[in-house]
Amino acid sequence: MKHELPGRLIVFEGIDGTGKTTQIPLLADYLTNLGHKVQVTREPTTGQYGQKIRELYVQRTSVSREEELQLFIADRREHIEQLVMPALEKGEIVLCDRYYLSTAAYQGANGFDPMEIIKLNQFAPEPDIALIFEVSVDTSLERITNGRGEQLNDFEQEESLTRVSRIFSELDLPFIRRINAEKPIEEVHRSVVEAVKPVLF
Ligand code: TYD
Repeated sequence: MKHELPGRLIVFEGIDGTGKTTQIPLLADYLTNLGHKVQVTREPTTGQYGQKIRELYVQRTSVSREEELQLFIADRREHIEQLVMPALEKGEIVLCDRYYLSTAAYQGANGFDPMEIIKLNQFAPEPDIALIFEVSVDTSLERITNGRGEQLNDFEQEESLTRVSRIFSELDLPFIRRINAEKPIEEVHRSVVEAVKPVLF
């Protein structure tokens, strides 16, 4: 649903290891310096459903794919009610690390139709801008395993990441802006700023 609230909703999307988490605080600082009140947040949240989702990272098969999808949606409903809407009503800029395009891409890669998933999310305020951070699957895997020194969790296996990446690349909605996230941090930051400027007030 399109929102007519005084705030702005800017969401960060893409496969794992694209550097979203580095870029969000850089944009938050930039916007704060311009005098905006900024809220940085993320999905899955740390709420009741978000915690259940985190348990799935190690044992994804412990719930059905329908139940998994419903958990992400329940988490989002709670997040919107408790944080996103109140902030938008107050005229704040909300920067959200992952939102419903992640559900379209990840649960889409798990067998659902991505556009059907987007329809299930019509209760959610539409982002003013969704930045899709793009890197190759090789870069993503490299950054997850070498950069963070982590093992791949159940959402991050190569085959499924390739499917997720393809869905992200095929999404076509008017509020999507694509960011080449293979570039150095400063350059990516400049592209992010250029992409969000048109929706600032
Ligand atoms: P991530 O941003 O990596 O969170 P954290 O750093 O806190 O672990 O997101 C966790 C995983 O959840 C990620 O691999 C993508 C997945 N995910 C979905 O499958 N569907 C969704 O709707 C969302 C928001 C995330």
